[in-house]
Order: sequence, then C-alpha cells, then structure tokens
Amino acid sequence: MTILLLGAQGQLGWELGAALAPLGRVLHLSRREADLSNLEALAALVRKTAPRVIVNAAAHTRVDQAEAEPELAHLINAEAPGLLAELAGETGAWLVHYSTDYVFDGAKDGPYTEDDAPAPLNVYGRSKLAGDELIMKSGCRHLIFRTSWVFAGEGKNFPRSILELARLESSFSVTADQFGAPTSVELLAAATALALNLALRGADDLSGLYNLTAAGSVSWHQYAVYVVRRAGELGWGLSAAPERIAPRPADDGGRAAKRPANSRLATAKFARAFGLAPPPWQYYVDRLLWTWTRQAGTAHLAAPKRLLGLKFIPPMNDSPKTP
Ligand SMILES: NC(=O)c1ccc[n+]([C@@H]2O[C@H](COP(=O)([O-])OP(=O)(O)OC[C@H]3O[C@@H](n4cnc5c(N)ncnc54)[C@H](OP(=O)(O)O)[C@@H]3O)[C@@H](O)[C@H]2O)c1
Repeated sequence: MTILLLGAQGQLGWELGAALAPLGRVLHLSRREADLSNLEALAALVRKTAPRVIVNAAAHTRVDQAEAEPELAHLINAEAPGLLAELAGETGAWLVHYSTDYVFDGAKDGPYTEDDAPAPLNVYGRSKLAGDELIMKSGCRHLIFRTSWVFAGEGKNFPRSILELARLESSFSVTADQFGAPTSVELLAAATALALNLALRGADDLSGLYNLTAAGSVSWHQYAVYVVRRAGELGWGLSAAPERIAPRPADDGGRAAKRPANSRLATAKFARAFGLAPPPWQYYVDRLLWTWTRQAGTAHLAAPKRLLGLKFIPPMNDSPKTP
C-alpha cells in the first residue's frame, strides 16, 4: 500500500513519517517534490503514484504573512486540498488532512464541537475552512483532524521560546486571555496512524471531521509558568522564577492577523469513534523537557546547553509523569 505524505518536512509531517511507516510504503514529499501551489503538477504526481492514502501535512501556516497573500494561502490551504479530495474520490483513496482552531472566532464560552459554526478572524483561518469544506463536499473518504497550538521538539516552539526568555530575563509577561490545548505532533501522528489503521480496515463510516487535541486547556501564561516551573524542577538554571512571569492581555496590535481568544476543541467525537483517549497536554510538554534534559546530560549531545546556553544541573529522581 502506498501512502503519499505531503509536507513531510513540516513539524507534523516529520513525525507522521515515522508513525505511518508500519502501515505501508510511505512516499515522503516535501515542498520541493510536491508543491501544493502547482495544481497541475500535484495532480500528475497523485495519478502517477496511485496512493491508497494521501496524508496532507502541508499548509500555508504563516498566519500573519497570509494576510498579505490571501490568494496564495487560498491556493495552498483550500484549492490544493480540494483537488486532492477530488483525486482521492476518483480512486477510492483515503485523504487525511489537518484543520485548525482558527476557523473559529473564539467567542464561544466553552470548547468548540465539530457542529459549531465556524467564523474565522483571519485569512489563514478562512483559507483552511475553505479547504475543509471542499474536502467534505467532495464525497471522498476523508479524515480531517482539527487541532490547535501544535508543537514539535525540533525548531521554533513555545516552550523553547519561553525557556530562552526565562534564561535572559528575570521577569517577563505572557498573554493570559487566550486559551487552548498545546498539542504535540507526537500525539497527532500516533493518533492519525491508529485512526487511519481502523479506517483502512473497512470502517468507511469513520469518514469525517474530528477535533483532535491533547486533553485539558490553558492560557499562554499558564503554559509558560508550567514550562518554567518544570524546567526548574529538572535542574535548569533560569533567571526567571515561575512567579515572575506576569499575565497580560493579548496584544494583537503588532500582528497582522487576529487570533481567537478561545481555541478549546471538544474531542469526545474522536474518542468515541476511534476508542482513543488523548492524554493531557502536560504529558507531552514533560516529555519534551525531559528529552532536552537527557540530551544535556549526554556530554556529546549537550543540546539544551548548546541551544539555550543554560546552566545544567543533572536531575535526581524525576521522570515524565504518566497521565
Ligand atoms: N502549527 C499550529 O499551531 C497548527 C495549529 C492548528 C492546525 N495546524 C495545521 O496542522 C498542519 C501541520 O502544521 P505544522 O504545524 O506541521 O506546520 P509547518 O511546520 O509549518 O509545516 C507545514 C509544511 O507545509 C509546507 N508547505 C508550505 N507551503 C507549501 C507548498 N506550497 N507546497 C508544499 N508544501 C508546502 C512547509 O514547507 P516550508 O517549510 O518549505 O514552507 C512545511 O514543511 C497544517 O495543516 C496546519 O494548518 C497547525
């Protein structure tokens, strides 16, 4: 079975490469090999490789930049997924795709369900919503996972930025009036593989849109406090103590795109359909901090020390908490 993985070099795409490997022959394609802004070439590639599953982890994810290039965002986030859905429909292939909390305006009091009416605040959200709608209208077999606040261990991510700040500054402030569930690519990739495996075993009625995030929710401020507190417990030498991180209101003044205040997504539909329970967001943040800590404890890797310039004291009896 061939699985076409688009956006294979992105945060999520990279993790999906490993998670999908046991399911079949995965063709890992980055933007260089499969550019979603070139619809003709994309269609030719899909026809040539005849995948049984297309997993689309590629997207125009630069939310502020999208405000200045709405046509490009629409092409990559809506037209290309729409085309993939059409092609999947022709051959009976499954299409796996990822949606975003940014399809909502954040005004709801409580977590959004799959049935809540979207009302995106920005170009990125509108383009992603248009992609979801085209896939759902196409009639192809699909799994759309709507997620939020995605982070990976590699590259830029919120915990790394906060640790950098906490190393340099003895106090700083973080937005306290936007809420969501930090969701690790590890969770998304594992849940995708498990759900897809079930769908491939003939469960056509699983086709649909599902919210998929880690359990629980926090503000960016609470998230930052958690990261600094846990890093401190693991022996990281930081300038800022958790209580020196001040809450502040969201300030979108300097940013091109508006963000929703409420990004919470209810995951009951996903849990029911696939018999899976997303663990709390803290589990994955702990794993990330622990990975960095272990690397720092390994002389030849010394990743956090090198990347963050932190003073490292080896931890004693601590390990990631099982949820
Ligand atoms: N990140 C979040 O917080 C978040 C939240 C909710 C939902 N999502 C959704 O989750 C999915 C995965 O996001 P992510 O966090 O993994 O994003 P990411 O790290 O930015 O990865 C997106 C990938 O798409 C590639 N890409 C961009 N334009 C392309 C094009 N024209 N053709 C082919 N590939 C292209 C990017 O390549 P380059 O690096 O070359 O640009 C990148 O490798 C997306 O559907 C996103 O909308 C993300």
